[in-house]
Amino acid sequence: MLRYKNDQWVPVALSADVPKATVVPAWIPDSRIALWRSQSGVLAASAERCPHRGMRLSYGFVRGETLSCIYHGWSFASDGRCQRIPAHPGLVPPETIHLHNSVVNERDGIIWVAREQPSLEPPTFPSRIPLKTIMVEAGITALETAAGAKADDNGVISCTLAGENICLLLVAQSACETLTHILVDQDTPVSTRITLSRHIEALRRTAEAIDLRKDAC
Ligand code: FES
Repeated sequence: MLRYKNDQWVPVALSADVPKATVVPAWIPDSRIALWRSQSGVLAASAERCPHRGMRLSYGFVRGETLSCIYHGWSFASDGRCQRIPAHPGLVPPETIHLHNSVVNERDGIIWVAREQPSLEPPTFPSRIPLKTIMVEAGITALETAAGAKADDNGVISCTLAGENICLLLVAQSACETLTHILVDQDTPVSTRITLSRHIEALRRTAEAIDLRKDAC
């Protein structure tokens, strides 16, 4: 399984899956985060647990430039600082109340997160655009077998599907679960993207069947 260091970028989601004023759960190795985008478009990767009583912040909601916890409404800015505690409307929240944020970077339609600031920028994929993200209930080895190609050191499989050259950007969530971002050539027509989506589903089923046969998961 590909291991990520704390200062290594992890591709956690596609930009299209985190529109303005939304929060979604995402995963970096060993922990879950709340990935959210403010009304003005600022992206943040916050700790998943609320510092008040531990509610999941990905269950919360974005209002304006803050993320609010769904339990008692504590609100946090994109830098992690607590902005408001509804039960104490006159109180300026102390600086000690804040979320731990991870580093976030967005480029070419992919959102990357790292626990600590990496020394390098995230990888680029020239002339590629993201098509979709799927969760495959199989390990990377099974995906390699299904795709007929090996992943490189960055967890990228380059392969041909339905006559098209595509990239699979893999993030192992566990030994039996792989977050898979599919990248296609930027000039791929819409009709071909639809065809590719069907073939990608078939690829997913094949990989999952391989792991089931091996009783790997
Ligand atoms: S648990 Fe989040 S505000 Fe209370």
